Parts: sequence; structure tokens; C-alpha cells
Amino acid sequence: MKIGSLEVGRVGLGAWQAGGGAWRVDPAEIKRAYEYALDHGLNFIDTAEVYGNGRSEKFVGELIRQRPHVVVATKVAGFHWGRIVKSAEISRRRIGRVDLLQFHWPPPVYVPICRVVRGLERAAELGLASEIGVSNFDIGLMERAKTCTKKYEIVSDQVVYNPLQRAAERLIEAGRRMGVTVISWSPLAKGAAVKESLGDDPARRLDPVVKRAATPAGRRVVETIRKIAAGRGVSPAAVVLAWHAAKGAYPIPGIKTVEQAHDVVEAVGLELSEAEVRAIDEASAQFVHGSIWPSGMRYIPGFLLKLGFILASV
Ligand SMILES: NC(=O)c1ccc[n+]([C@@H]2O[C@H](COP(=O)([O-])OP(=O)(O)OC[C@H]3O[C@@H](n4cnc5c(N)ncnc54)[C@H](OP(=O)(O)O)[C@@H]3O)[C@@H](O)[C@H]2O)c1
Repeated sequence: MKIGSLEVGRVGLGAWQAGGGAWRVDPAEIKRAYEYALDHGLNFIDTAEVYGNGRSEKFVGELIRQRPHVVVATKVAGFHWGRIVKSAEISRRRIGRVDLLQFHWPPPVYVPICRVVRGLERAAELGLASEIGVSNFDIGLMERAKTCTKKYEIVSDQVVYNPLQRAAERLIEAGRRMGVTVISWSPLAKGAAVKESLGDDPARRLDPVVKRAATPAGRRVVETIRKIAAGRGVSPAAVVLAWHAAKGAYPIPGIKTVEQAHDVVEAVGLELSEAEVRAIDEASAQFVHGSIWPSGMRYIPGFLLKLGFILASV
């Protein structure tokens, strides 16, 4: 699979968990988990400047030092439209190398999209990243962003996508036309798509998908996934990640344990049949509607969002 010029496998990794903060983690175990995944064939890892206030980027930097083949993506916070280059410099310093630089979420309505795109292009021109992408942009915003590029192409859009939140499917379709890879965040619905009992991490408290998974319709989706997994003798997580690949999206699950890393590795070699993909699609048909990002967020001034992030210690 390709993200612009970057050659990646069928499944990547997200490293929000490694920042601590909104996730409860055992630092030694999470380190073993990511090392296991990267040493068993995974070659893409995503982070962001806001995850654990830079701790996740530092964690990724340590991981990739001995693994030069791993493709690294990071995200400049959506309130940093005026200082993308500065943020990219700080991220590069923490990580050591950035292959894909993404803008984390749409800027407030009063900020022109082209200003963001120019900032990303400038960072790439300065050698701070080789490819540029965005995150949480809907089709309309992506089309506008595409008209702003001068020297680089926007190669990816990282959005929420999983069997309990399928609004990104129109974007996946449009992305094929525009040469944009859709990277799925929360590909396991924060674990809610694969298991019934979830830890009490603050990251989950804010996410409506966890409640959705507990409804009768949500439970049907989880049961379908677990049934396919049992039939194949693989983990439910591997089934969900293989479903992403079949749908044309690139999943980046966050992991905390070696056991979870093993499931992600298992997904790389798993090909679902058309009937299995259809079964998950049918069970989750009512979750195709909705939006990928609450548009109201664009009316919140940047400084308030920043304050919210600091208080939430993402
Ligand atoms: N661009 C954005 O706005 C944005 C937003 C959110 C996330 N992201 C990125 O996307 C990545 C993934 O999203 P996410 O972390 O929100 O959600 P996710 O990958 O859907 O879920 C991660 C959680 O699921 C559980 N899990 C992982 N592997 C499992 C397995 N094999 N079996 C059962 N449970 C498993 C773990 O929690 P427990 O062990 O506690 O159960 C883990 O913390 C993040 O790390 C981050 O890089 C981006």
C-alpha cells in the first residue's frame, strides 16, 4: 500500500496511548508492545505533538532510532495554523525524522484553508517532512485544500473510521479519485468494536462510540465480528483490521500490550472473504450516516481549544 511516495504495509500503528495522559498504560509493557509489532513486520507509526504533550513523539523517536525502515507520521495541532513550521521543527527534534506531516484537525472558520496548506508545504520545502497530509477534513474541505497546493500533493486524510462509525466511506471513495489515502483513526472503536468490557480510560469517557457499542445495534456488530473471528481462529481485532484493508482504508490501531500487538501482526496476513466483509457491512449498515468531525468545532476559537486540550491532558 502507498501513502503518496511512502511504501507501507496493510496495517500501521497509532501511538496516542504511548503519551499516557488520556490512556492508562504500563510504560514497560507498552514499550514491549510497539517493539514487538515493529519487529514483526509493521512499518508505520502515527503520533502527534499533543499526545501526552510531546511524550508520544519522544517515545516514537526512541523506537525508530534502531529501525530506519519505519515510516513516521506526526500531526501539528489544529490550533497551530500560524506556526506550522515551528511546530514541525519541534516535532522533528523530538522524533528525529518525520515522513508524513499532517494538520491535526480543521482550522476555525475564520482561518483560510490555503494558509494551512501553505504552512505544510513550507515545512516540506524546508526538509521537515517528505509528504504532507491532513486529518479530520471532510470531502468539501479536502477539495478546497487540494486547490491550494503549489508544489506538493496532500496525500492522506486521517479520519475516524470503524464498523461502528462508517461516515468516512464517501471520503474513501472521493480519496481514490483525488489520490488521497484515508487513514482510519480509532479503527477498533477504542476497543468497543471487539470486546464488551472496556477500561475506564479518560479517552473513552469522551467518545460516544463506546455508548453506541452497548446498544442492541452496536452489540450485533460486535457479535458478527466475534463470530467471524471464532470461525477463522483469529482475534476479533485482526478481523476488524482486515475489514479496513478490504474497504480501502489504512488502519492505525493504538495498542497497550504485546498480546494486542500480536493481534495487529495477525491482521497483516488475514484476507476476509467477500461474504465476511458483507456480513460486517450489513450488521453495521445503520452506522454509515453522520459526519466524520463535529462541524461546530470550527466555531471554537483556537485559544479555547488549546486550553481544552491542556485541561484534558490528551
Ligand atoms: N487524527 C485524530 O484526530 C485522531 C484521533 C484519535 C486517534 N488518532 C490516532 O489513531 C490511533 C488509534 O486510535 P485510538 O487509539 O483512538 O483507538 P483504537 O485503535 O480503535 O483503540 C485502541 C484501544 O483498543 C484496545 N485494543 C487495542 N488492540 C486490541 C486488541 N487486539 N484487542 C482488544 N482490544 C484492543 C486498547 O485499549 P485497552 O487495552 O484499554 O482495552 C487500545 O488502547 C491513535 O493511537 C492515534 O495515533 C487520531
